[in-house]
Amino acid sequence: MAKSSSFISSHNRVNGTLYPLFVEPSHLEKLKTFKLRPDDVFLVCYPKSGTHWLMKIVNLIMHNGGDNYVNSTPGREEIMWIEESGKPGLNKVSLDELPDPRLFASHSHYRHTAGGQPNTSPAKYICCARNPKDVAVAFYQHLTKRQGTDDRIEFDLSWDEFVDHFLSGEVSFGSWWEHVPEWWAHRDESNVLFLKYEDMKKDLPTSIKTIADFLGYNIDQDTLQKIAQATTIESMKVNTSLWKEQQFLRKGVVGDWKNHFTPAQSEEMDKAYRKTVEGTGLEFEFD
Ligand code: A3P
Repeated sequence: MAKSSSFISSHNRVNGTLYPLFVEPSHLEKLKTFKLRPDDVFLVCYPKSGTHWLMKIVNLIMHNGGDNYVNSTPGREEIMWIEESGKPGLNKVSLDELPDPRLFASHSHYRHTAGGQPNTSPAKYICCARNPKDVAVAFYQHLTKRQGTDDRIEFDLSWDEFVDHFLSGEVSFGSWWEHVPEWWAHRDESNVLFLKYEDMKKDLPTSIKTIADFLGYNIDQDTLQKIAQATTIESMKVNTSLWKEQQFLRKGVVGDWKNHFTPAQSEEMDKAYRKTVEGTGLEFEFD
């Protein structure tokens, strides 16, 4: 049972989902009617599932692997965190003034996507999902290291307590157990691409090609290899060092959960996982 804590009170609850305080509930309300354009691209991963990895890949695809883009951390004008974009003083340009193609990052559930549900929208959506055990570890590590920084997260949970929170969905941006199967259920819609972190780790060039094709970009073999080289975790730690400082780049491996979970926690997570994926065809690799 998740305990009530200052972690919970450093969130707003909107329609049952916990949002960090830097996400304004009134902004979420406004985003419901946000006007989308056909060139808009949304990266809609659950937290700690490779959002920044995709951000870098898509930014490079959109700029044909250009050197300036390889060696820099994309700024907010290039990739806008849509839920955060209502934060006072954050944005110099309004969302409507951003040039095409607009690239947005989000942790939104399918049913809460800005501008309306994807099946009614002209935009494209890429969801990268990751096995829940590695997500929980990455989430805990991130929150522990970000505690006390400018995102106003009060993080006072032990690992054991965090696992309970994760299992009950009482974490920032809501429940893995809802977010991932919901996007998976919509994976065959023509403007949705569903990827798995573990597949990207196994064969990055093929994943990059899949993403480029989905977005309608023709990239040649050399550019593809260049983008793959620039988006390994090792390269990104060097060429997007700001994200490393902000604790978005850590180990970048599959199976780190084994260094953190007790056998009892692992069993409980397996139970929740099997219940969630049963009959859906969704499966993850855990090592
Ligand atoms: P770990 O903490 O397990 O290392 P997000 O961007 O959604 O917050 O996800 C962060 C997770 O993605 C972190 O996981 C981070 O290290 C991993 N990640 C970021 N870039 C990566 C890359 N190029 N290759 C593999 N994993 C990457």
